[in-house]
Amino acid sequence: MTDAPHPGGVTEIGEFEVARVGYGAMQLDPESASTKDAFALLRRAVELGVNHIDTASFYSYGEVNRRIRAALAPYGDDLVIVSKVGAKSVTGGVIPLAAAQRPAELRAAVEADLTQLGLDRIHVVNLRRLELGPGLEAVGDQIVDLDDQLAEMIALRDEGKIGAIGISSVPLETVRRAFPAGIVCVQNAYSVLNRAQEDLLEFCVAEGIAWVPFFPLGSSFPGFPKVADDPTVRAIAADLGVTPSQIGLAWLLAQASNTLLIPGTRSIAHLEENLGSDRIVLRADALARLDAVYDPSTDRLANGDGIEAFLDER
Ligand SMILES: NC(=O)c1ccc[n+]([C@@H]2O[C@H](COP(=O)([O-])OP(=O)(O)OC[C@H]3O[C@@H](n4cnc5c(N)ncnc54)[C@H](OP(=O)(O)O)[C@@H]3O)[C@@H](O)[C@H]2O)c1
Repeated sequence: MTDAPHPGGVTEIGEFEVARVGYGAMQLDPESASTKDAFALLRRAVELGVNHIDTASFYSYGEVNRRIRAALAPYGDDLVIVSKVGAKSVTGGVIPLAAAQRPAELRAAVEADLTQLGLDRIHVVNLRRLELGPGLEAVGDQIVDLDDQLAEMIALRDEGKIGAIGISSVPLETVRRAFPAGIVCVQNAYSVLNRAQEDLLEFCVAEGIAWVPFFPLGSSFPGFPKVADDPTVRAIAADLGVTPSQIGLAWLLAQASNTLLIPGTRSIAHLEENLGSDRIVLRADALARLDAVYDPSTDRLANGDGIEAFLDER
């Protein structure tokens, strides 16, 4: 527990109140971070007011979850852990993954989360569909009807194993179909470099549910455009005397008050930087320059680089 103010202020994900700047734990797999460094980072995040941690049982066969438990349990009352189901580990790293979309596999993933995290209930679980890149594609018996998956998620919620249901990597029409199940958040790839999913942000604002962009900094994966490398982002960071990553995160926070950030890092210095992004005020001219980095009419970066290879990456 900590008395530190919640970075970014507080908003809701379902019935849970969380800091707008949280933490995505995907970078804490054993191939990327030592146990000692992972513990230190998780404890520092909580000490600095983070109370929203995003994870999955399929990060390194559950090792990231086990590290969260070892570092943070017994958990503070206000800590909200959000997981996702729909894939499974096939190596000790975080990729590659295999699809695990069938209802019984969704249930098994929630059971794994409960065991690995040492919880009676996972606060929020995202149904990670495979409708959008980057990542896996559903083939064969992994092409599962949304309603069958939602029935299982609702059953898990009715049994008290999950607190609320979110949805991830889906187009707007899927979110509309899923919404009556009580969807509390949408998690899609989105950043100042990649606004292809902006209609989802607008939907979340209109419905008053949380918008949780993943890859807020462009991801750790080689070949994906990085927010901190963009010339406009860098120029505005230099003008304001802050870092390019902070500008990318401040731009996301400025989009809408229902935006929750889950940047991933294995570095305490980067964590502290990211949590400081809420103190950056972007004036209208800076926001307009950042908005122009990506051209929604072409789905390309304004410098002509295509984003589609990134979006379609499988
Ligand atoms: N729903 C889904 O399908 C899905 C998919 C992917 C991810 N996620 C979630 O979203 C979270 C965020 O995505 P992500 O971690 O893949 O990508 P990300 O947050 O966009 O970027 C992470 C990368 O940025 C670097 N970074 C972080 N802070 C930095 C800073 N201040 N300065 C410079 N570099 C910085 C990290 O390197 P260092 O470690 O060196 O800081 C890492 O390489 C994940 O952790 C995961 O929880 C969800």
